[in-house]
Amino acid sequence: MKAATARRLLLAVGLLAALPLAAGAQTRSIVLPPDHPYGDLKVGPGVDVTERACRACHSTDYVVMQPPGDARQWEGVVTKMVKVYGANISAEDAQAIARYLTTHYGK
Ligand code: HEC
Repeated sequence: MKAATARRLLLAVGLLAALPLAAGAQTRSIVLPPDHPYGDLKVGPGVDVTERACRACHSTDYVVMQPPGDARQWEGVVTKMVKVYGANISAEDAQAIARYLTTHYGK
């Protein structure tokens, strides 16, 4: 291997090694405006996990604007968020959330 090639190779390896550092240095954080009070969830058992799980992608406006639903409807909504949109919610949390929604936003 010629010296110039070896040097170029070393440079490439060095750059690759520095990449994660450069990426880390560019981490930015953004602060979103608070949700409108319209979307505040009613207080009750299960509200914390619901808020945490369901506000990961959108405001809870989507929840409070729904017509009252029975258990089957709310379970369907939670299942849809997990299966269709990829919400990261454990089966246990999904049950607690569906129960909370049925109790507070049910028929
Ligand atoms: C992984 C992202 C994600 C998470 C987490 C999430 N949703 Fe959604 N949700 C979506 C998307 C995407 C839509 C569709 C938005 C649109 O059509 O404008 C949606 C729409 C909705 C709607 C409107 C009706 C519908 O079916 O489109 C409701 C109600 C809803 N979500 C409730 C919930 C509840 C309750 C939770 C918590 C269990 C939740 N979402 C968590 C992504 C998510």
